[in-house]
Amino acid sequence: MTDQTPTALPADADWWRRAAIYQVYIRSFADGDGDGTGDIAGLRSRLQYLAHLGIDAIWINPWYPSPLADGGYDVSDYRDIHPAYGTLDEAKQLITEAHAVGLRIILDIVPNHTSDQHAWFQQALAASPGSPERDRFIFRDGKGEDGSQPPNDWHAAFGGPTWTRTEDGQWYLHLFAPEQPDLNWDNQEVRAEFESVLRFWFDLGVDGFRIDVAHGMVKDPALPDLGLTEFSVLTGEGQPDHPHWDRDGLHDIFRSWRAIADSYPDPRVFVAEAHVRPHRMPEYLRPDQLHTAFNFDFLKCPLDAGKLREVIDRSITSLAAVGAPATWVLSNHDETRHVTRYGRADTGVQALFRDRPIPTDLALGTRRARAAALLMLSLPGGAYVYQGEELGLYEVEDIPEELLQDPIWERSGHTLRGRDGCRVPLPWTGDTPPFGFSTSVLATPWLPQPKDWKSYTAEANQADRTSMLQLYRSALRLRRTNPNLRGEDFRWLDSPADTLLFERGNGVLCAVNLSAEPILLPAGAGPLLASGPLSEDGGLLPPDTTVLLQRN
Ligand code: GLC
Repeated sequence: MTDQTPTALPADADWWRRAAIYQVYIRSFADGDGDGTGDIAGLRSRLQYLAHLGIDAIWINPWYPSPLADGGYDVSDYRDIHPAYGTLDEAKQLITEAHAVGLRIILDIVPNHTSDQHAWFQQALAASPGSPERDRFIFRDGKGEDGSQPPNDWHAAFGGPTWTRTEDGQWYLHLFAPEQPDLNWDNQEVRAEFESVLRFWFDLGVDGFRIDVAHGMVKDPALPDLGLTEFSVLTGEGQPDHPHWDRDGLHDIFRSWRAIADSYPDPRVFVAEAHVRPHRMPEYLRPDQLHTAFNFDFLKCPLDAGKLREVIDRSITSLAAVGAPATWVLSNHDETRHVTRYGRADTGVQALFRDRPIPTDLALGTRRARAAALLMLSLPGGAYVYQGEELGLYEVEDIPEELLQDPIWERSGHTLRGRDGCRVPLPWTGDTPPFGFSTSVLATPWLPQPKDWKSYTAEANQADRTSMLQLYRSALRLRRTNPNLRGEDFRWLDSPADTLLFERGNGVLCAVNLSAEPILLPAGAGPLLASGPLSEDGGLLPPDTTVLLQRN
């Protein structure tokens, strides 16, 4: 049932409670065959880099066959590999090799919707209304005398309506792009299929799954109108019984998934992408459901000491009530890179409008990104590092419009640029594009890299003692080796306005200065690691700087 391969994985059933997990956006990580698209061969060639970084696991964004209408979140076969990324055999080799260097592998499962090219959806289109084939998806007759009006008033995530009409006049539901038809999770065949997909990959030795749109799989079968003029996101207290987000019916599905994970001798884990209100998150993380969930409240929080403290407190306390660890994340493949966000007047998450560039100070953003990274890696629980943040990469905001790939660009009627700016292929070595991303110097990366990324390559970072990469390596090493940071103990200590100070375990302090003035460091403690220079005598912590200290 499990892989019998050589492994350097620590025998540790609780590894996920404090794991540092590196997100590999495979299309943009490393290209091993010189075609300008990242792939498994490229990832295998960089495993040593990842092991040396000091992370525990990698999460790989969807790598399955897909027309890539939404970067692979439109899966046409859940049990194979996209030919541009390699083969199933290469995937098996990757799993073996990753385990051999001590890295676990988390895959991305996309259960809310398939691709419109998935065999099931093609069968559904060919079948008649009311057929078992259509019941795997959400087909309905339209409104109005001739059924020419959509079945309800919902709006889709990337813009436009959430219903598309088929040739025979019925409509199908898609919360995202029309190429991503939503599955019907009231259908037993759908449930059985995904349980079988989980087993397929677990049997190959995969250590866990990130669950895409985990809060959206179950719908109110009545599909009531929402009465909104745009896509419905769950914010604030909002609607308590939302027809497509955070429905109680989800928990049965996750209980059955947990039973499958627990049926393996070594731990298999889940992390939910669930955008739900904070007080609902513990529902997903009860001991018989999912292990962890992304902390988007932390990602979205402006760099403000008071607000951060509130989010950190709420995350730790509410999840502790169900025995789950908190997680922390600053960037991912859907959001503006945090070096850029933190260089703006408003450091929260904002949409990138085509005609409204936001003034950004990258030097300031980088200083703050360093402070935020050391804060994140000093908190108890799990942490996610998005590929390239360890190199200090910023959001690429000037990709020529004709090269934009994110469906948001088309579906917003060219008003929103979408998410391509955080998905640009990584710079590894050298002075000119493709910066070692591809094995061929002649390759054209699928999204163009800025010329000044020559000073952001892994090679350039490696050569500079004070680089972002060295900061990440040092912080990740401390997290692993310092017993105070390995535990779950955490308590706040008093500190001046606009600063944070907390203690981990017995004697490791973390101080974050988000005020405009230097502050005095706590007496009787010496620095272990700082995100930027301290005052010469080491007694002052400058603005936008974090320091980890050990009590004498
Ligand atoms: C998630 C993914 C995002 C994708 C969407 C639809 O939010 O992170 O990239 O577009 O789901 O699958």
